[in-house]
Amino acid sequence: MNITRGTLTHNRNAPATDAADTYLVSLLQESGLYNKNISVLIVNERYGGVVLKLPPEANVTLVQQFYTEQAGLAHNAANNGVEVSWKAMTEAYFLMQGVGQEVDVVLWRIPRNKELVHAQADCISRHCHGETLVYGASMIKYTLPDFRELIKAYFGHIRTLAMRHKALAFEMALPKMRGELPDYSGTLNSHGMGFLCTFPGVFSRNAIDLGTKELLRRIRINRAHNSVADVGCGYGAIARYLYQQRPDVKYTLVDNHFLSVECAKRNVLFENVRVEAGDFLEETNTSFDTIVCNVPFHDGHLLDRSVAKRCLQSVFSHATPNGEVWLVANAGNTLKKYFPSSLRSAHKVTVGKYEIWHLRM
Ligand SMILES: C[S@@+](CC[C@H](N)C(=O)[O-])C[C@H]1O[C@@H](n2cnc3c(N)ncnc32)[C@H](O)[C@@H]1O
Repeated sequence: MNITRGTLTHNRNAPATDAADTYLVSLLQESGLYNKNISVLIVNERYGGVVLKLPPEANVTLVQQFYTEQAGLAHNAANNGVEVSWKAMTEAYFLMQGVGQEVDVVLWRIPRNKELVHAQADCISRHCHGETLVYGASMIKYTLPDFRELIKAYFGHIRTLAMRHKALAFEMALPKMRGELPDYSGTLNSHGMGFLCTFPGVFSRNAIDLGTKELLRRIRINRAHNSVADVGCGYGAIARYLYQQRPDVKYTLVDNHFLSVECAKRNVLFENVRVEAGDFLEETNTSFDTIVCNVPFHDGHLLDRSVAKRCLQSVFSHATPNGEVWLVANAGNTLKKYFPSSLRSAHKVTVGKYEIWHLRM
């Protein structure tokens, strides 16, 4: 059976589909349920590699981790005229509210983060009835070596399937009976900012990142400035700190990761603060007096240096003419090559393995 519906493309570097996506779709086909009127839960869908290959009659619920993946998927669906309809929910919503019903099949792109594997396995097992088929897959180089051990608490039966094209898959059955959906969030004591809410899978969830701390030690918002953007805000530590210094300015926080956005919403809960999911500042036409960023070098969980370039392009194109930009990154990551030549000043401090930049536009 031909399962390809047109070519999946999207406008960024990562491929729209990979061998693990293909493996999941073929497992569903081999199960004999592919063309049946079934309910399917797809957890951690990326750019459409799984959902766009399901038949139109499937009743699909889709859980996504990242804003850019959701946008990429919509782009792919439109490009391919796909008929499958799906109910999309963010990973944050999934872990907090669940799907609200049991499903016939779960197709799970297994994440690399152990805590997240636990939380997702738990949440998935709550959506299974005795006959639910659960397939998990990941690319071998990103598969957690102790995956089976990790999810033993949630399923009575786990089988490793043969490897296909650098992807590995697991079949899980017999979900263990469980009670109410728990609260997977945690807190960290930020020493001076009180407790901050975090979630499995958010950046530096157990303690404020050392680079972030070094940035906060130095950063000052110019007295004449009225608007601040915290780009790649994570759980909102930077804005929460700055708010203590300047509660009078307007803050805009943005992150690609839905769980981070959810945490930041809880941590920086003030009237003059907006927290949004987005691809850097690309969704806004506003310019900001001060822009702060602990620069990301990952696309999702994968190292991708072009992310920093896109991030800085977005930052510089959204600074006001007399604006200031504060950046932190690991030293040696050469942010400088992405700076515009028109800067009024660029001041760098290197502390340990971090460099902190203060730039005037
Ligand atoms: C190095 S972490 C910094 C997090 C937070 N500011 C802190 O200091 O704890 C970088 C953040 O950028 C986010 N990020 C990565 N790509 C992004 C994109 N395209 N748009 C917005 N945020 C992105 C990541 O999800 C992550 O939360």
